Amino acid sequence: MTLHTIRRFIIRSALNHNSHKRQRNLHVCNRCQLCTKSDLANPRNIQGSFKNQPITGSLHNGNQETGKSLHVPVMVNEVLEYLDPQPGQVLVDMTFGSGGHSKAIIERAPGLHILALDRDPTAYDIAIETAAQYNSAITPLLGKFSDLDKLLKSNGYDPCSIDGLLLDAGVSSMQFDRAERGFALSKDGPLDMRMDGNRDPEQPSAADVVNHIDETNLYKIIKRYGEEKRARDIAQAIIDYRYSFGPITRTKQLASIIGSVFSGDHTKDKLSRNAHLATKTFQALRIFVNNELNELNTALKMAHKFLKPGGKCVAISFHSLEDRIIKRNFMGIDIDAKINTKLSDHYKYKDPSLVMDKDHIGKLLEKHWSLINKKVVVPTEGECQLNPRARSAKLRAAIKVHEEP
Ligand SMILES: C[S@@+](CC[C@H](N)C(=O)[O-])C[C@H]1O[C@@H](n2cnc3c(N)ncnc32)[C@H](O)[C@@H]1O
Repeated sequence: MTLHTIRRFIIRSALNHNSHKRQRNLHVCNRCQLCTKSDLANPRNIQGSFKNQPITGSLHNGNQETGKSLHVPVMVNEVLEYLDPQPGQVLVDMTFGSGGHSKAIIERAPGLHILALDRDPTAYDIAIETAAQYNSAITPLLGKFSDLDKLLKSNGYDPCSIDGLLLDAGVSSMQFDRAERGFALSKDGPLDMRMDGNRDPEQPSAADVVNHIDETNLYKIIKRYGEEKRARDIAQAIIDYRYSFGPITRTKQLASIIGSVFSGDHTKDKLSRNAHLATKTFQALRIFVNNELNELNTALKMAHKFLKPGGKCVAISFHSLEDRIIKRNFMGIDIDAKINTKLSDHYKYKDPSLVMDKDHIGKLLEKHWSLINKKVVVPTEGECQLNPRARSAKLRAAIKVHEEP
């Protein structure tokens, strides 16, 4: 069973358990800390509502209330340069969003076909509208990266049949700018953060996590996915608040609990910009709720499986955890290996029956991807000024060089 399957199974059991008892704790697996397991033996009974907040209204029509409309695609010129789309090709846009990249690709190479995936039903609706505008040059697909295998096959695409693939990770402005999606700490909304909206009634929301997880595991999530130095204090403040005042249900409520941990007003991000004190914790919760890192790793495996040899993959990340997964996949480094793992580390097998023959060593040295750009590509200063969200973007591009076994 993959980590992802284990995580799904565990969340399901925890939610089933909760639907009977309305009390639950989630525990982070000690081995990988990427998946959760229910800790039904924990004596702490934590009360809270599991009712996920409904998401209503059309999310993609910019209006006064949202103040923002469609997502502004990042590094469009660079995507076109590295993907090099050609008429007649079939491409997968794994993160359609509001379709900015897809439209630019079709306009560059009319006659090309795009399979447009997104887990968000709002993005799927936009893909349907966009498909109609572009004479069905787009096939909208609703699902996650982990559903891609099934979705491509059911649309008649076999492994090694795709010419190019784009992955623009993270959250879209349409998700981030709508208070009711619960991603933004600057706008008050229900503490939701599910990219899928209400599509999967079993998926826990951010409120489910902060109201039912125990302190140690909340700390691990904030530390690991937010890389937050004050993770221990923040986890403690959340648990204290929960016990004293009841469930945490709103984004601003959580942001102010986190703010109470810090004495100063602002913290700096890695680019020395002022960031809200709760930014890293919100990132951590978002990653956990959407299982983002496992999904991203699966996306890159799927990319390799479905690209033709010679097919190109362009991947954009917005923080170091995402970039590490993309880099390691493209460079053939084991995703679970410690940083700076050398090939010699592969010889440290615990299994004495394993013979390190020529074939085995050959397999270890086999290259699956050839990097198009040796160094990571970042947006121009001009783009960052026009679109500040582009500032943390990093683009990597690679060519598939090896057939699937
Ligand atoms: C940064 S936005 C992409 C924006 C898009 N390139 C554009 O031009 O509008 C990321 C999108 O990826 C989607 N997404 C994130 N994780 C996903 C996953 N595991 N499976 C499918 N879609 C995902 C999100 O719902 C979001 O719409």
